[in-house]
This record gives sequence, C-alpha cells and structure tokens, in this order.
Amino acid sequence: MDDLEALEAEARASLAEAGDEAAVDAWRVAWLGRRGRLTTVLRGVRDLPPEVRPRVGAGANRLKAALEDAGDEHRTRLLASAADAESIDVSLPGRNPPLGSLHPITLTRRLLERTFRDMGFDVVEGPDVELEEYNFDRLRIPAGHPARDMWDTIWVAGDDDGPRQLLRTHTSPMQIRYLERREPPIRVIVPGACYRYEATDATHEWMLTQIEGLVIDENLSFAHLKGTLEAFVRRMFGADIETRFRCDYFPFVEPGAELGVRWQGDWLEVLGCGMVHPEIIEDAGLDPERYTGFAFGMGVERVAMLRYGVRDIRHFYRNDVRFLRQFEGRR
Ligand code: PHE
Repeated sequence: MDDLEALEAEARASLAEAGDEAAVDAWRVAWLGRRGRLTTVLRGVRDLPPEVRPRVGAGANRLKAALEDAGDEHRTRLLASAADAESIDVSLPGRNPPLGSLHPITLTRRLLERTFRDMGFDVVEGPDVELEEYNFDRLRIPAGHPARDMWDTIWVAGDDDGPRQLLRTHTSPMQIRYLERREPPIRVIVPGACYRYEATDATHEWMLTQIEGLVIDENLSFAHLKGTLEAFVRRMFGADIETRFRCDYFPFVEPGAELGVRWQGDWLEVLGCGMVHPEIIEDAGLDPERYTGFAFGMGVERVAMLRYGVRDIRHFYRNDVRFLRQFEGRR
C-alpha cells in the first residue's frame, strides 16, 4: 500500500509537467496504457499472498480511476488556459459574423404583407392546430361532404378525448374566427402555414404557406373582388401582367373563382377566391341582405416560385445552404 502511495505521488508529479495535450496523451500511455506502470502493478496483484490481495487490488483500482480523472482534468485545464491566452485586441476593426439570411418564403410573405397593408388590409394570424369544426364544418364542408376530399388531412387528436383536431389544411378557418370577433367593415389578411397529407412532387409539398384574405362591408360585389385582386396582382407582378378569372368551386364562397396570371406563355393559377357564402355571413350574426364580401386564398410558395424562378417547390424546405445562400441580401 505504501508503494501505491509513492506511485501515485510520482504519477501526479509527472502529470503536472505535461504542458500540452500531446504530453497528457503520452503520460496516459506511460501510466495507464497496456504496458503502463500502473497497469503492470495491477497485473502483479494476482501474485500477491491471498490475505493482502483484495486490499491491494482495490487500492490499485481506485488509484487507476483517480489517475484517469486527474488526466482528464489536466487536459481540460490546459485547453481552458490556451483559450484565455488568445488575447483580444480591442483596437482591431470588427469582423462581420456569418449571420443567416431571410428564407425566400419569409421574403415573399413579407412582400405580400406589405403589398396588402399598402392597400389598407390588417394582418392577423391564427392557430396551426385547428378544430375540425372551423377547418371544415363551419366552412360548409360537413363530414361526408365530397369537398373534404379536396384537402387531404393530418389529424392530430380527437374522438375519445374531445373534439377532433387537425393541422389546418388551409387558412380559411380564420374567416370564421375573425367574423366571430370583429364587426364590418372587415379588410384583413391571414398569412400562415397549412398542412396536407400529401405525396410530394415538384409542385406539391405537405406543408405550404397561404395568405387568406377577407373583406366584408355593405354593398360589396364581384366587381370589388375583381378590382381588388387585379390591383394586387399589378402591384406584385407589374402593370402589364395579364390576368384571367375562371369558375372554381369552394363550398364557402358563391360564386367561386380562380385567378390566373400569364407567365412565360402559360397561365398560372395564383389564388382561389369568391364571394363569401351568405350562410357564413348569417352564421356570423350579420344580415346577408346588408353585408356581403369576398375572400381569397393564395399559396406563398407559388408566388415565390414565380418571383425567383424556382422550378421545384421541394427546394424550399430541404434546407440546402447552396439553395438558401442564393437569397442572401435579397429583399
Ligand atoms: N382555402 C382555399 C384553398 O385552400 C382557397 C380559397 C380561400 C378559396 C378563400 C376561396 C376563398 O384552396
């Protein structure tokens, strides 16, 4: 046991002299390696007389653990003091740290929000996890209605533990939520993420960003819808942009339409829209003879693809820095 103590003192003294990481490694090999001093001692324990063997064996094992800890601590101390030694010259000019940049969808969403704000719209947000009631039923899409097939749905809770919930498949439930709380005149947009249980390809993602629009006032007609959306598209894509409205069906508007823009010789749909269904106005406690309005919903990824010439929607959420860096410094 005295030999062990002497050995420990020697080992610690030699560790104290290790001035860098490589020296700590060498020390570890010399003492704790396969042929190290302490390892040799441990191996010799079995040749000791049986009455002292357990005590010396335990002592040697304890010493081994203590030296391993001491080696680790010494290394940590060396690294810390090396970091301290890198002195800071406060007179040097600053360096720009590599900050990230805004995501192309954030850039596009902000531009869309600015454009609508300039046109007098408020901006609000709603919940991503939505009740079935708002996402479907109160938008005139009851269970079993064929229109439910338009939105493949990711359910998150329900049945036994209360009302059914889902990741909203569109931002339209916010039409209902906003009407519950506000009185006309209403002029609002709702940007936000939507989710669909969907196989992905170049034009479909399972997560997308929508901007919902809702306008309610007295005496609004389809002409106001057309005028507003055409003004919007001209602000976004330039005064010369060609547009077209075509019939489309959404259960919560009547009539419903889609707005397309002429893009590189093709027609591209940018949004769905229509006159808010009178039943929805009535459910909100308003007189549908007096109040009318229109709603629209557009895909932000779609607009970003147009703006930046991105051919595959899946690029947006792959987080490949080679893609994302192309938007550095853009607005
Ligand atoms: N919510 C519809 C969709 O996701 C778009 C839409 C919004 C259509 C508002 C009409 C009015 O496809």
